[in-house]
Amino acid sequence: MRSGNWWAGSPGQHRGENYWKFQEEFADFQESKHCIAVVNGTVAIEAALLALGVGLGDEVIVSDYTFVASASAVVATNAVPIFCDIRPDTLVMDVKKVEELITDRTKAIVPVHLGGNPVEMDKLVEIADQYELAIVEDCAHAQGSRFKGKRVGNWGDAGTFSFQASKVLTSGEGGAIICNDDDLADTIYSIIDCGRMKNQYSYAHFVYGTNYRMSEFLAALLRTQLSKFPDQHIRRNEHARYFADKLNEIKGLRTMKPTPGTEELGWYVFPIVFEPEKFNELTKIAFYKKLNRNGIPTDDCYPPLHSLQCFKDINLRKGIDYSMANWGGHKSDDSNFPIVSDIYSRSVEFPQYMLLSEKEKLVKVVDFIASLKE
Ligand SMILES: Cc1ncc(COP(=O)(O)O)c(C=O)c1O
Repeated sequence: MRSGNWWAGSPGQHRGENYWKFQEEFADFQESKHCIAVVNGTVAIEAALLALGVGLGDEVIVSDYTFVASASAVVATNAVPIFCDIRPDTLVMDVKKVEELITDRTKAIVPVHLGGNPVEMDKLVEIADQYELAIVEDCAHAQGSRFKGKRVGNWGDAGTFSFQASKVLTSGEGGAIICNDDDLADTIYSIIDCGRMKNQYSYAHFVYGTNYRMSEFLAALLRTQLSKFPDQHIRRNEHARYFADKLNEIKGLRTMKPTPGTEELGWYVFPIVFEPEKFNELTKIAFYKKLNRNGIPTDDCYPPLHSLQCFKDINLRKGIDYSMANWGGHKSDDSNFPIVSDIYSRSVEFPQYMLLSEKEKLVKVVDFIASLKE
């Protein structure tokens, strides 16, 4: 605020410094070559898809268990999202089910690392290569997640992040796209900065582009947050392992299983799945309300995308044909998405900040949940 620089300027003429430094620092942290900071995680997905050539008439396969933005960003490109069911243990996209959803209109896949838990990216990349599909990893929950030696966001063509208020790294709102290809980074930059090109005259607009640039002020906030992040990330990972070990001792309850090959996890949320018959037939809502009344911050998980009203009524965008989608009307019935529908009916989640509290507090939560069985 004291600098008076509210605008980052352009690559050839910096007005502020935080926007440019944050991009470098976040790219370093995520171990990628490029980072382009934007206003939020939703437009980050949209810009990455647009830069990869996704548009009218294309289909994009998206995990069914996620926040609406993973799919609404696809809708914003005029493409059609196609929903993929999840694995019951890891709660992320079931890569084995992706192939059966591919048609001659499929252009891209958006795997979502739910709660920071990586999708099996090695297997997904093989499928994408075979069918020549682009991958945009939705890493909104996955700052710091590492799978088989590589930080997430680097497996696909691009990875997108959110810095919205509830996230592990936040500036209230904000987002970023990482990638390792120089041309793709330039294209993304043009899309988010009015069609400008790096180091060119700023009133020259070369391609279609809009304004999704992050503000200098948000970037300044994020730089401070990022400097604290690595210690918090280590603590969250250690406490998550401890919490999971204790919770999994309770019969009839299990925690989200980290995908085999996961070395670090962003832990944006910590989901648990319970068997109502082992908990006096408690409904999921009754379950988390009991926890809330005892001062334990717990919430509902995301309703599966296929069940959202906007994907039951198919009039999302004028002029777009959604009739080939695997949702809409009766196609949105839960029976067509059996795993996610079952999991959603009996899962709740803890927020990431709980994993920063003392272990004694986590033990009290475990004891309280165990007492619900009596
Ligand atoms: C999985 C997922 N993707 C994308 C987004 C969109 O991020 P934003 O709220 O910054 O637009 C979110 C936001 O919570 C999210 O949870």
